Amino acid sequence: MNLETTYLGLQLAHPVIAGASPLSATLDGIRRLEDGGAAAIVTASLYEGEILADEEALEAALIVGAESHPEVTSYLPPLCGCRRPQAGHVEMVRRAVESVSVPVIASLNAMTREGWVDIALDLQAAGAAAIELNFFYMPTDPAETSADVEQRLVETVRDVRGAVQIPLAIKLGPYFSAPAHMVRLLADAGADGVVLFNRFYEPDIDLETMTYRPKLELSQEGDIRLRLKWIALLAGKTPLSLAASGGVEGADEVAKYLLAGADAVQTTSAPLRHGPGYLDRLVKGFTEWMEAHEASSVTEFRGRMSAERLADPEVLVTAHHTATLLLQYPCRGAATGL
Ligand SMILES: Cc1cc2nc3c(=O)[nH]c(=O)nc-3n(C[C@H](O)[C@H](O)[C@H](O)COP(=O)(O)O)c2cc1C
Repeated sequence: MNLETTYLGLQLAHPVIAGASPLSATLDGIRRLEDGGAAAIVTASLYEGEILADEEALEAALIVGAESHPEVTSYLPPLCGCRRPQAGHVEMVRRAVESVSVPVIASLNAMTREGWVDIALDLQAAGAAAIELNFFYMPTDPAETSADVEQRLVETVRDVRGAVQIPLAIKLGPYFSAPAHMVRLLADAGADGVVLFNRFYEPDIDLETMTYRPKLELSQEGDIRLRLKWIALLAGKTPLSLAASGGVEGADEVAKYLLAGADAVQTTSAPLRHGPGYLDRLVKGFTEWMEAHEASSVTEFRGRMSAERLADPEVLVTAHHTATLLLQYPCRGAATGL
């Protein structure tokens, strides 16, 4: 049986990729994810915000140090423009690339042009097989339009594409007015793939302490559906590689995403919940599913349930609320005369 798939031009032994998470933030974690069975590993994102905060803290410490001991500055490298605090992460990526035999995809979340381009260049030099740009951005300024946000993302992709040669995936959130058009713009800007979808940080109010509590929950049953729909709608209609990210709990979700048309399936919550070895269980379960359905290769059934290949693609998009209600609550339908 052939489980191989091609994602971002990378040949993978099977479609299950370890998504960005604290597990892939360290060399040890990345090794464990490879041992656990990942076909490729996306590192935890390098956040430019953290780098800038580190730089500011370091600069402030240096100023204080220089005031009390002027010689301090003489043995420290100049800070301006050199972005040293990222060096540890880039070095971790370099060592990970040397230590594991599966592709290491470096994830990056930046805010400035320098951040996106300079750090992407460093990650490429470190040997990353590809870069995943994590477009995690909250447009809270009422003066900023959706067109502004999209334009900024497109320009960023164009800039990074112009600078690095390795494949480029863009991880998007689901909140675009016209996701299909956005994906087309990304393809035109030189992206090689999209990852659908990231999940956003949604803090909760703690009623006891009356403070906001950080809350990043692991995925829940049903998180797959929005992603499944968009993968199915885009498959075959974009030249970009498609990776799914969200809601994989078992092998069934892997099979569903591939049927919808994904080239690869990322999973984050499942290995966090059950340990890195769970990746291998996903692959074995998926292999059993293929056997049961007499499929000899992934390419044979991938996209079989994409919109492009459905006899009635409307089933993915129509506002079927009334029909669904009638199916689920027939008495209510009768009572309302529907
Ligand atoms: C604890 C935690 C940390 C995460 N860190 C990152 C990150 O650094 N970069 C990123 O792009 N996504 C990050 N994510 C998002 C995941 O990669 C993934 O897109 C999301 O959790 C949905 O997939 P899942 O349902 O398999 O968890 C993180 C998710 C969790 C739960």
